[in-house]
Amino acid sequence: MSKEVLISAENLQKYFPVKGFLGGKTRYLKAVDGVTMEIFKGETFGLVGESGCGKSTLGRTLIRMYDVTGGKLFYKGTDITHASQKEMQQFKNKMQIIFQDPYSALNPFWNVEEILSEPLIQLGTAAGERKEKIQHLLNKVGMKQDDLYKFPHEFSGGQRQRIGIARALTVEPEFIMCDEPIAALDVSIQAQVVNMLEDLQNEMGLTYLFAAHDLSMVKYISSRIGVMYLGNLVELASSKDLYDKPLHPYTKALLSAIPIADPKTGRERKRIKLEGELPSPMDVPKGCHFAPRCVYATERCKEENPVMRELETGHMVACHNAESI
Ligand SMILES: Nc1ncnc2c1ncn2[C@@H]1O[C@H](COP(=O)(O)OP(=O)(O)OP(=O)(O)O)[C@@H](O)[C@H]1O
Ligand SMILES: [Mg+2]
Repeated sequence: MSKEVLISAENLQKYFPVKGFLGGKTRYLKAVDGVTMEIFKGETFGLVGESGCGKSTLGRTLIRMYDVTGGKLFYKGTDITHASQKEMQQFKNKMQIIFQDPYSALNPFWNVEEILSEPLIQLGTAAGERKEKIQHLLNKVGMKQDDLYKFPHEFSGGQRQRIGIARALTVEPEFIMCDEPIAALDVSIQAQVVNMLEDLQNEMGLTYLFAAHDLSMVKYISSRIGVMYLGNLVELASSKDLYDKPLHPYTKALLSAIPIADPKTGRERKRIKLEGELPSPMDVPKGCHFAPRCVYATERCKEENPVMRELETGHMVACHNAESI
């Protein structure tokens, strides 16, 4: 059975203009620079990479919160690359986002009932139906009737994230960009929220893009994972393949930083230390963007930027030396 593609990006770019000093030339920060990927209906696509590699920008561009600089973007086969606001109306509710910091995403002057009502009022949902829907959503995210009349500051971080999730669900989306939704939460709460997201996914047939630093959590929830480095994907594989046989030196470095519970396996896994810092997306290195930090880099790597190629079925990597390292 072939999988239904929900979102597809071809060579997608998102650049931010940066004004030159004292009227100097405008330069461009290449936050997303040539991403090609597909997200299948019903899956959780994990997105990992260091801070500043472009995870949030990619997610926001995919749901057209940002305008697209270059490349192509499709939603269920419809080209939405440059769709106008009016044309995006029909897709807007289908694609939602959950933020790392729910506090900044919730209006502090509104109580939960008002927060959850607002998108439904926009949709023209009648008062009676609204009430019913909100009640239903509140139950779904594990909150109580009394909570409706409280304000965001009266909740814990985990509860606020539940409100953020309920808000995203009011408009019955198909796709949710989960932008590090548990990173700011207590470790004890993280698993609860992840489990809830999984339950909601199964119940409502949702598709997620899940951005995170925490590779171990992403492995647990994702069907496939993309590893991002300086605005582009460097490796894409099923969750299992990525962990069992990582091909890109950057992925290997990220994985070797995860503590392994089993000391025996721990000894077997070669540690690769990631030296230096992520270069600025204003000054992207020539050749492979990872070369300046890569212990395997050759002359070719410094000159020629590798393209993504499928080394094994469904396992893509952008590295000249992936076979030999
Ligand atoms: N609105 C913006 N205007 C200008 N530059 C931006 C904007 N948003 C992000 N950037 C820059 O784009 C690059 C990618 O940022 P982004 O927030 O997408 O990374 P990230 O992978 O989500 O990082 P983190 O893990 O810290 O959330 C960074 O260099 C960032 O400074
Ligand atoms: Mg981010």
